[in-house]
Amino acid sequence: MTVASDEHLRRLPKVELHCHIEGASRAATIAELAGANGVELPVDDPADLYKFTSLNQFLDIYGVVCASLQSADDFHRIAYECFEDAAGAGIRYCETFFSPGFVIKLGVPVSTVWEGVSAAVVDARADLDIFCRMVLDFDKPSGPGHALEMAEFAAAQDRDLLIGMGADSVERGVDHTVFADAYAAAGRAGLKRTMHAGEDGPADNIAVAVRDCGCDRIDHGFRLLDDPALTDEIVDRRIPLTVCPTSNLIIKLVPDIESHPFARQRERGVLAMLNSDDPGMMRFSLADEYVTVARAFGYSLEEMEAVSLDGIEASWAPDDEKAALRRRFEAEFDDLRSEYGLEARAA
Ligand code: HPA
Ligand code: ZN
Repeated sequence: MTVASDEHLRRLPKVELHCHIEGASRAATIAELAGANGVELPVDDPADLYKFTSLNQFLDIYGVVCASLQSADDFHRIAYECFEDAAGAGIRYCETFFSPGFVIKLGVPVSTVWEGVSAAVVDARADLDIFCRMVLDFDKPSGPGHALEMAEFAAAQDRDLLIGMGADSVERGVDHTVFADAYAAAGRAGLKRTMHAGEDGPADNIAVAVRDCGCDRIDHGFRLLDDPALTDEIVDRRIPLTVCPTSNLIIKLVPDIESHPFARQRERGVLAMLNSDDPGMMRFSLADEYVTVARAFGYSLEEMEAVSLDGIEASWAPDDEKAALRRRFEAEFDDLRSEYGLEARAA
């Protein structure tokens, strides 16, 4: 077993599949945009904005962040900064969420959001060592009509830039079966499908996502192991979970990372990989997450390299891209081991 230093883990090449551009926004950027757009923040110091201990409190502040975003340029800025910060955390490939439901309610059309976000994806691909695709998350509490509208909007965009549809916000009090039609429309348009499920809601929502809504992936899936038959199905079908342990800790789903089901999910054969969820608002990066999880579960370097490679498998990148990413990651693993004077990977 090889134990890696914190710095080594931080520098591992990574994939991220569960990060929200709004939740990734830097407090200073939100303060500046709020000022420019005449939006009053509820705090004097922008650093005080990002304080919450439940999903509902978090979503309230998410609403404040979104109210500060109005023009295509605003969305370009937060998306581009999200990719800059991700590249800094060692992320080489990402599929990143944007959630237009909040700003649509404030009168900003989804086309304005997408104009800024899609331009940021193109710019980041050109400027930064990270390759990004976007996933449009609809807002579950806004209901099935909004979901269908979002599926139709997503269907009309360039699939290489907008690869899939997801869903987020609260689970409690939401009947997840009503989204089946919207997901069917997304599937017919060739969009990949995922859903936040089993975060602060039950494993039943994960079952609805994969059985009724045709989801290819599950975001969080924190409660999956509560349902052994469903767990067998997720393992057999190799449906990935995009797990976010620190995000779950911050909203108090677990008292500490050691109690998080991530390690048990992996032992059970689930394709569970690591993500930051909302790195700006939670003041935590995926590089931090790799260190935290490795220490909490006593993972070796080999195990953390495997977690990183599982991110490639869990992604929706075409097979040739996945193969190229794998080759690149393995070469980087070898270079890092050699730089830190550690033994080479087993052949
Ligand atoms: N869960 C629900 N809604 C969200 C999340 C999340 O992880 N991140 C941003 N909006
Ligand atoms: Zn999320």
